[in-house]
Amino acid sequence: MNIVLLGAPGAGKGTQAAFLEGKYGLVHISTGDIFRANIKGGTPIGKVAKSYIDAGKLVPDEVTCEIVKNRLEEDDVKAGFMLDGFPRNLFQAQQLDEFARVDACVNISVDTALLMDRICGRRVCSCGASYHISTLGGKTTCDKCGRPLYQRADDNPETVGARLETYNTQTAPLIDYYAAQGKLLTVECGNASPEEVFAMICEKLDNFNK
Ligand code: AP5
Ligand code: MG
Repeated sequence: MNIVLLGAPGAGKGTQAAFLEGKYGLVHISTGDIFRANIKGGTPIGKVAKSYIDAGKLVPDEVTCEIVKNRLEEDDVKAGFMLDGFPRNLFQAQQLDEFARVDACVNISVDTALLMDRICGRRVCSCGASYHISTLGGKTTCDKCGRPLYQRADDNPETVGARLETYNTQTAPLIDYYAAQGKLLTVECGNASPEEVFAMICEKLDNFNK
C-alpha cells in the first residue's frame, strides 16, 4: 500500500506517520525531514532549500520531485511507502502519478485555529521524537533517547503564517485532486488525541482496503 499523507503544517502528518509505520510497516518518507538533513549537512540541496523553508515557501519543484523520484527507486519502498509532505502542489501530484502508484491519500483535517499553537509549542529531538511544551513540564531532553530537545528554525509565528498561506493556496487543492481519483480518505480530527486520530485513520484505511 502506498499512501500520501496530506494536511496543513502542524496537522500531525509526522506524528501519524510514526504510528502508521509501526502498524503497517510502510516506509516513511518526509520531504521536510530530507531537506532539514541536507541543511544540517551543508549539502548543495540544503543550501537551496534553506531560504525557501525559512520563508515558509515551497522548495522548487525540480529539486523536490527529483529527490522523491530517486527515493522511490530504492528497494525498501517496494513493500509500501508513506509520503509525508509530498506532493504539495498540483504539479508535484501529477509528477508523482508519472513515477509511482498512489493507492490512498489520508487527509488529516485540523481546525486552523489549533495549528499555530501546536507548531510554535513543538519541541523536537534529532531521533525524530516530537513534543509540545504544554506536556513537557519544563523538561528539555527527549524521553526516548535523552538528547536535548530543540525548536525547528521554521517554527516561529511569522514563518508559520507563511506556511499556512502556502498550504491554503497551493496544497489544499490536492484534496479535490485525490477526491476526483476516488482515493481521498479524510479524517476530521476536532480535538482528538494523536492516538484517537490514529484509530480513525486505521478504520478508514482498513475499510478502504477491504
Ligand atoms: P514539513 O517538514 O513537511 O512541515 P509542515 O508540512 O509544515 O508540517 P509539520 O512537520 O510542521 O507538521 P506535521 O503535520 O508533521 O505535524 P506534527 O506531527 O509534527 O515541511 C517544511 C518545509 O519544507 C516546507 O515549509 C517547505 O518549505 C519544505 N518542503 C517540504 N516538502 C516540500 C515539498 N513537497 N515541496 C516543496 N517544499 C517542501 O505535529 C505538530 C505538533 O502537534 C507536534 O508538537 C505534535 O506533538 C502535536 N500533535 C500532533 N497531533 C496532535 C493531536 N492530535 N493533538 C494535539 N497535538 C498534536
Ligand atoms: Mg512533519
